[in-house]
Amino acid sequence: MSTIQGMPNLGPGLRLHLNENTAGCSPRVLDAIHRVSADDVATYPDYEAAVRETAAHLGIDPDWVVLTNGLDEGLLLTAIGYLTPRAPESLVALGATPVASNGQTEQIVVLPTFEPYLINAKALGARTVAIPSDADFAFPLQKVLAAITPNTRLILINTPHNPSGRPVAESDIRAVIAAAPHAIVFIDEAYHDFQGVHYLRFTREFENVIVGRTFSKAYGLAGIRIGVVIAPPALLEPLRYVMPLFNLNSVAVAALRASIADPGFMTWYVGQARESKALLYEALTRSGLPHWPSETNFVLVNFGDRLAEMVTGLRAKGVHVRDRSKEHGCAGCVRITVGPVEHTRTAIAALEELCAKR
Ligand SMILES: Cc1ncc(COP(=O)(O)O)c(C=O)c1O
Repeated sequence: MSTIQGMPNLGPGLRLHLNENTAGCSPRVLDAIHRVSADDVATYPDYEAAVRETAAHLGIDPDWVVLTNGLDEGLLLTAIGYLTPRAPESLVALGATPVASNGQTEQIVVLPTFEPYLINAKALGARTVAIPSDADFAFPLQKVLAAITPNTRLILINTPHNPSGRPVAESDIRAVIAAAPHAIVFIDEAYHDFQGVHYLRFTREFENVIVGRTFSKAYGLAGIRIGVVIAPPALLEPLRYVMPLFNLNSVAVAALRASIADPGFMTWYVGQARESKALLYEALTRSGLPHWPSETNFVLVNFGDRLAEMVTGLRAKGVHVRDRSKEHGCAGCVRITVGPVEHTRTAIAALEELCAKR
């Protein structure tokens, strides 16, 4: 069979496998898309207003913002900008050696991790130092600190963490930043809206921090592809240098502006995710299924030796969940997206029926 672009299509059903917003998006986003004109379609996009509004929304200056085609692109641009053998000037100014000593740059990630972190580095010939998380997905601070070398160019910290849902402590993030002044610490905040904690201020407090955001999750724009990379202008230069000039299309620009103008939708969805998590925790506890408290819109659940049967059973009932069992610390585990309470109740009913069958 030939390989088709993108993720495999699981067919119809409740999509609880990709941490998407299953409530959709703000109706204002759809209105804005309907208002996109023939001129908007026929001309290259203008980003000025969208960048200014995004910056105002984040409370920072517009030149501290790069809009990307999903945070995926932001991560790729960061890898290209910082993992090539010759260090960008912005990093040399912070103490990085201009050329990696053995020609191989390094990045540090904590396992389990978001797969593109690994693929990006591999494609660039950089070495990934992958540190297994401690018990219950605790951030392995001492091991991360011990892994820092003069060749370390990038340290990726995802908080709250996918797939465990666990946040990284502020003190741990600070310790990593302080221990690697010659490297970029990229804080991936894809799920920060659900925790209500974020580290944007670290981009001002420190010289080596980049923060990544996405509109795919809480804002429900995964299909439109919008990410934001935030850092001091000098740190963004290597990304701007390689990024496609028109990386977001005009429809995405319209959607982003409308989405920012309607924070109520996001707040409502975050509330639904919170209620859903409480319901799901209760149901999982009733069924004796181990799980981890989550600060995101998903929950990691351990089905143990029933993994395959549960994943297939749920799929047969029209509920798609994500098998993460092959990753460090995740044997027997799936990740279940939690959004609108109504969807969570459907998932719980399917799950309880399967558990009752045993
Ligand atoms: C930790 C993490 N970072 C980045 C992304 C990428 O998000 P986007 O849809 O904006 O590319 C995801 C998406 O699932 C994610 O889980």
